[in-house]
Amino acid sequence: MIKKGLKDSVWLRQVSSFTSARIIMTANNYRVFDNLEGSWKTAKRLSREIDSDSRATEFLLNSLVAFGLLKKQRNLYRNASVASKYLVKGKSGYQGDILSHQNTLWDNWSGLDTVLKTGMPYRKSHNHESFILGMHNLATLKVKNVLNNINLNGVKRLLDLGGGPGTYSMAFAKKKIGVTLFDYPETLKIAETLIKNAGLTENIRLLPGDFTKDDLGNNYDLIFISQIFHAYGQDECLSMLRKSYSSLNPGGRVVIQEFYLDETRANPVTGAVFAINMLVNTQRGRTYTVKEISSWLKMTGFSKIASRIINDTVLITGIKMKR
Ligand SMILES: C[S@@+](CC[C@H](N)C(=O)[O-])C[C@H]1O[C@@H](n2cnc3c(N)ncnc32)[C@H](O)[C@@H]1O
Repeated sequence: MIKKGLKDSVWLRQVSSFTSARIIMTANNYRVFDNLEGSWKTAKRLSREIDSDSRATEFLLNSLVAFGLLKKQRNLYRNASVASKYLVKGKSGYQGDILSHQNTLWDNWSGLDTVLKTGMPYRKSHNHESFILGMHNLATLKVKNVLNNINLNGVKRLLDLGGGPGTYSMAFAKKKIGVTLFDYPETLKIAETLIKNAGLTENIRLLPGDFTKDDLGNNYDLIFISQIFHAYGQDECLSMLRKSYSSLNPGGRVVIQEFYLDETRANPVTGAVFAINMLVNTQRGRTYTVKEISSWLKMTGFSKIASRIINDTVLITGIKMKR
């Protein structure tokens, strides 16, 4: 009976989870975790350092202690290990940029009532830098696992289409593959700095452009299209695949990484909710089923189409057969 009661109230807890999200995003906006790294501080001292109200700061810090993100001894606060690992700028697992991006999405999602009426996006805010750096935060956590699931045998030249911050490009380049990172010029500016900091400038060619209009180059053995399709409608995805097909060498492969839905379109939760993110932020984007994406590969001419689920995304591969 108690168990059933708890299960019945899951949706109610989901509704109030916006409060926890808001607390963590505000703490991130004020750089609370950077300031509480490695030393114990009172709320009063921290509020002086981050230019905030000390009473409000104390309330915020106590909630962060309750979430397990901070530790508290008497009236002193410090980062707990999870905050230290993921929320302090400069740490390898840093996720603060994706939190900033979520903060932007908060503004746009606040228009969901309007979106439901009009069917049109409500893109009130956009911060390109936190979007791209946020993609870097997320990819950093999974790049190793993703690459372990891609067959790179014989791949000498690779195109990372819409490669964003270049997280995957850098990982491919470290495997001695000649990488071309194609993206908008404003994105490549951000990627350039990350690639320079990683000492990989010589290993990655930056190709600025709009892949819906511009040429992608050719002679690639593999084209990686990660988290791109969901921002576009079916016709645009098909056109990207046709372009990719003609840019590949015979025997070359396309590898798609995407959020996905099963045939009910209501599972998994990540895919179903992400469809709404695209509804709010794009004209024609959505989450697709594995069957849909696979059928596009087939329509384009790819063979040996295979898919593998890795956590909340799917990797779908197709080969351009030698004739
Ligand atoms: C969601 S991010 C994915 C980044 C990266 N592939 C990853 O998985 O981490 C989408 C990327 O596609 C780029 N992009 C979207 N539309 C594009 C277009 N028409 N031409 C070039 N780049 C585009 C964006 O600038 C952004 O870097």
